[in-house]
Amino acid sequence: MRHGGKGLTDRLNVITGATGLLGSHIAEHLRLRGERVRALVRPTSDTTFLKQLGVELVTGDLTKPAGLPGILDGADVVYHCAARVGDWGPWRVFQREIIDATANLLGACHAVGVGRVLHVSSIIVYGHPHLGDACFTEDEPLGQNLWLWDHYCRAKVRAEELCRQYLGELTIVRPSWIYGPRDRTTLPRLLKALDAGRVAIIGRGDNLLNIVYAGDVAEGAIRAANHPRAKGQAYNLSSEGEITQQDFLDLLVEELERPRIRRRVSYRLAYWGGFLSEVIGRMIRLRRPPHLTRYAVALVGRPTRFSIAKAREHLGWQPRIGVVEGLRRTLEWYRKDYLNRDHERAAFPTAVLASRLGGRTT
Ligand SMILES: NC(=O)c1ccc[n+]([C@@H]2O[C@H](COP(=O)([O-])OP(=O)(O)OC[C@H]3O[C@@H](n4cnc5c(N)ncnc54)[C@H](OP(=O)(O)O)[C@@H]3O)[C@@H](O)[C@H]2O)c1
Repeated sequence: MRHGGKGLTDRLNVITGATGLLGSHIAEHLRLRGERVRALVRPTSDTTFLKQLGVELVTGDLTKPAGLPGILDGADVVYHCAARVGDWGPWRVFQREIIDATANLLGACHAVGVGRVLHVSSIIVYGHPHLGDACFTEDEPLGQNLWLWDHYCRAKVRAEELCRQYLGELTIVRPSWIYGPRDRTTLPRLLKALDAGRVAIIGRGDNLLNIVYAGDVAEGAIRAANHPRAKGQAYNLSSEGEITQQDFLDLLVEELERPRIRRRVSYRLAYWGGFLSEVIGRMIRLRRPPHLTRYAVALVGRPTRFSIAKAREHLGWQPRIGVVEGLRRTLEWYRKDYLNRDHERAAFPTAVLASRLGGRTT
């Protein structure tokens, strides 16, 4: 297969955020296709997995633009996955690590004339539209009904605006809730909450989740970065709602050999509880997110409403890994890799989870 006159093995892909969840899956898929991959990593990044893949590692930081053109030189495609991901922290951090980082990267891409930029955005850019029965396409206005302290959403919207001003070839993908091996954020947070007995069903529990396997999103991103029709386009890369909140939690606790979650809390109460936790967390200057936040409530409590018809039609993409298989792979990684790191294990006071998962506890 040849692209733009180059064989796959000659094509150079540069990935930002390759040590993270999605970036690592994109790197893995590209290496499996036989393509060259160069990763921009920070001096503090854990590069163990990338080294196993045979990825070229170049040290840099998106907040320091001076070194970027050299890192991007010769790139056919730049996958921009790096970002501050999460619902906690001061605005200046989101400004620096999402908006400024994207501006710096786009400036450098333009300077060296990379072939195509694939910008990883999020369905969060739509803000918090009133759900009803609507199914949102990529034409939905961005930034609706933003919350107080909605820093992640605001920053991702602004990053997309910068992308729209970019003069070269660029494609945007908007994934929903990504899970899979190498998730350092959401799944560990959920498992810690389970470990502490803090998880409840939000609302009736019959809402279909937006959860989508990282390998599927990686495949969609690669298709979007290479398809001629995708230039200048944006694509939702979301689940179509394969599993309900209740069934997902049942599956998770079954895998962990824990009792079924029976505690319930209304969506409204959980939302306002999350808001109150955030207010208190800000007052006492919590460095980590509080146990309950509005984002966490929305993530598990709201139904899936994002159309992937455009990605299916233009790119021939749709999620392929079912949640049973995806969760099995994720927990396997979690047991083997994540919990065996000293600093991560220390965050679980009882280490009960490790033993339930069959992993080493010492
Ligand atoms: N996770 C989700 O559910 C989800 C859903 C929708 C969209 N997204 C989007 O998908 C993308 C990837 O998310 P993810 O969950 O894979 O993120 P992640 O696991 O938190 O990884 C973030 C990556 O960004 C890197 N990074 C952060 N700041 C950087 C900087 N200043 N310079 C260079 N690298 C930097 C991190 O490097 P270190 O290893 O050095 O920390 C890490 O590799 C993000 O744009 C996110 O907004 C994620």
